[in-house]
Amino acid sequence: MKYSDIDFNNKTILITGAAGFIGSNLCFYFQENYPNANIIALDCFRSGETFSNGNLKSFGHFKNLLGFKGIVISSDINDKELLKDLENSYTFDYIFHQAAISDTTVQEQDLMVKTNVNAYEDLLKIAIKHKANMIYASSAATYGDSNRFEIGYEQPNNAYGFSKVMMDNITYKYLKENIGISIVGLKYFNVYGQREFFKNKTASMVVQFGHQILNNLTPKLFEGSDKILRDFIYIEDVIQANIKACNPKKSGVYNVGTGKARSFEDIVNILQQELKIDNGKEYIPNPYIGAYQFFTQANIDSTKQNLGYEPRYELEDGIKAYIDDIKRLFETEVK
Ligand SMILES: NC(=O)c1ccc[n+]([C@@H]2O[C@H](COP(=O)([O-])OP(=O)(O)OC[C@H]3O[C@@H](n4cnc5c(N)ncnc54)[C@H](O)[C@@H]3O)[C@@H](O)[C@H]2O)c1
Repeated sequence: MKYSDIDFNNKTILITGAAGFIGSNLCFYFQENYPNANIIALDCFRSGETFSNGNLKSFGHFKNLLGFKGIVISSDINDKELLKDLENSYTFDYIFHQAAISDTTVQEQDLMVKTNVNAYEDLLKIAIKHKANMIYASSAATYGDSNRFEIGYEQPNNAYGFSKVMMDNITYKYLKENIGISIVGLKYFNVYGQREFFKNKTASMVVQFGHQILNNLTPKLFEGSDKILRDFIYIEDVIQANIKACNPKKSGVYNVGTGKARSFEDIVNILQQELKIDNGKEYIPNPYIGAYQFFTQANIDSTKQNLGYEPRYELEDGIKAYIDDIKRLFETEVK
């Protein structure tokens, strides 16, 4: 389904983080809808190296790009030579910047800020030189301890959330000048859907619970999970927001959620119903109390108004659209 009147055929589109969850879905959106688009997929791919939290340094996986026909570049956005090369070798029309340390529990603040903040500004400078509209991934993690999920009420409580606030600040600074391009930051809430599996433990609870249930393990929920509410958003709506952000009424930073908060308990109930497996639920103490978001719900008024964004997937719809892939992954990757 096309989300815009723009003809992306013959446009040169840079997608960073292209071997990751959201980036790879963007690659296929363009490939499928605009066969003559010139798509440059950039990612550093996984190396096996880990951070001090034991998780991989980057989650990019070639399997997310199986079937992709565009140009693939394996490189690090912190590499200044790469940036020079990109600037000189191409003239981009659009940049979708998804590359980041996406793991919210990473403690290495130095690399977090370098990768998420400084490299973003470097890419933004290329966008301005090329007159390419910039669409980048911010995050609901910017709200952190806030209980108001509206632009201007950010209160990050980890280095990741901080880095995304700094990206938004850079955006506001550039937008004060007459730069001749649009910049749109998208604060994604909790995204789930196809091609997230290779994020391992940082993949959404939708796929993780799905695989627990298929494995005949009783899904483990934190105590009080019926009251832990989040705005879960299906990947297709995130793609819609990115495409609509190419031609905004107004540059700026926007929330991307459904506008509805649902519980982790709901996820398990819907999955058990879709999978036709009722293997109960187990409740365990929440080890993250104190550093945990108990409620998120995007205010999407300005996203609707300025991007023309309209979420199409309730949690039930998203899980239904995703369930076959959850089963396929279980057969091919988990079992
Ligand atoms: N998935 C979510 O729920 C969610 C929510 C809010 C914000 N976001 C943001 O959306 C963007 C995409 O997230 P995702 O879920 O697809 O995560 P992801 O980890 O699957 O994708 C990020 C990609 O960036 C690549 N990358 C990391 N460091 C890099 C570097 N130095 N150079 C080049 N590539 C690098 C990784 O290999 C990975 O493929 C990220 O910016 C993330 O912070 C995601």
